[in-house]
Amino acid sequence: MRTKRYVLLIVTIAILFAIEGCNKTNTDIGSLYTPTSADVTANATLQELQQGRTLYINNCGICHGLYSPDSYTPTQWKSILSNMVPRTNMTSSQTQLVTKYVCRGKQ
Ligand code: HEC
Repeated sequence: MRTKRYVLLIVTIAILFAIEGCNKTNTDIGSLYTPTSADVTANATLQELQQGRTLYINNCGICHGLYSPDSYTPTQWKSILSNMVPRTNMTSSQTQLVTKYVCRGKQ
């Protein structure tokens, strides 16, 4: 009887952590920024940012939710991408576009 209650408690805590974990960094497509001319930098045109957004949505949300570009710095994104891109079928030019999008042209 006692053991059963402990198991229930542990399961409840695990579920709460799982829910909390999802809410923290994953975002839905609607809240991913849509590039405008204000986002253009010396390193990224509006078209590149727009293409990068589409590629990011299509390739990076398959195994987990989409992480907000603002969740990480450009330096962090570069190391994350070197770990994640090999898990996709993206070409190097597509990877460049995704990098520009998540780093907001500050890569
Ligand atoms: C084949 C499945 C898969 C694909 C495709 C994938 N990821 Fe991941 N991603 C994972 C797994 C699994 C983890 C958990 C950490 C790990 O295994 O390194 C993760 C973790 C992450 C994290 C959290 C890292 C941290 O330090 O908190 C980010 C951000 C991320 N992925 C971004 C991306 C981006 C950007 C892409 C597209 C280029 C992508 N992922 C594509 C499987 C995938």
